[in-house]
Amino acid sequence: MLEAKAKHMKFFVDTAEIAEIRELAALGLVDGVTTNPSLIRKSGRDFLEVLREICEVTPGPVSAEVVALEAEQMIAEGRKLAEVAPNIAIKVPLTWDGLRACRVLTEEGRMVNVTLCFSANQALLAAKAGATFVSPFIGRLDDINLDGMELIRDIRTIFDNYDFGTEILAASIRTPNHITQSALAGADIATAPTKVLQALAAHPLTDRGLEAFLKDWQATGQRIV
Ligand code: G3P
Repeated sequence: MLEAKAKHMKFFVDTAEIAEIRELAALGLVDGVTTNPSLIRKSGRDFLEVLREICEVTPGPVSAEVVALEAEQMIAEGRKLAEVAPNIAIKVPLTWDGLRACRVLTEEGRMVNVTLCFSANQALLAAKAGATFVSPFIGRLDDINLDGMELIRDIRTIFDNYDFGTEILAASIRTPNHITQSALAGADIATAPTKVLQALAAHPLTDRGLEAFLKDWQATGQRIV
């Protein structure tokens, strides 16, 4: 008999705002968090301090990005970031040096997220370098009239062809439809801003239906508690 493989799509939150992470975590919606230098800038907080707080409230991996361009320096920064908490995933860019740093850091047993991935070949290299996660940027491909979702589908096929264990972390998600399409394409994880995750719950027919139910309920004159 074939054994059923438990497979869950994970949601990461693409933010460095603690209040947002806490609120989503209360709904069980936070499997991890992704940050980047732009999100740290937006938060206005000290990088290591905010990372520490995020790691405390997040049950899964928290991506923290290096800013060096050269492998040795990336490795040094990655090791320092990993000291913050055991759930840090070191984020390195998909460059030749980033791949070298990825190899060294994963061989040390650390989680590495290879980011700024825009092609299937780049994703293949990240998997070969032992990346824990690879982050294809959907929205930024759509921005230049390419098909971000096609990239997710291609990477899924390639990784499945060879049983690569690297997880596909669909990033640069801008709309609820990006989440639906990522799930259909078999992305392991979607990372999205809080407002996109909240928008998943919204439907005008839900609002309209609720309004009608409450009106009818009031007409019964009853109370539940
Ligand atoms: O997860 C990557 C993300 O922060 C980039 O998103 O919307 O700036 O392309 P965006």
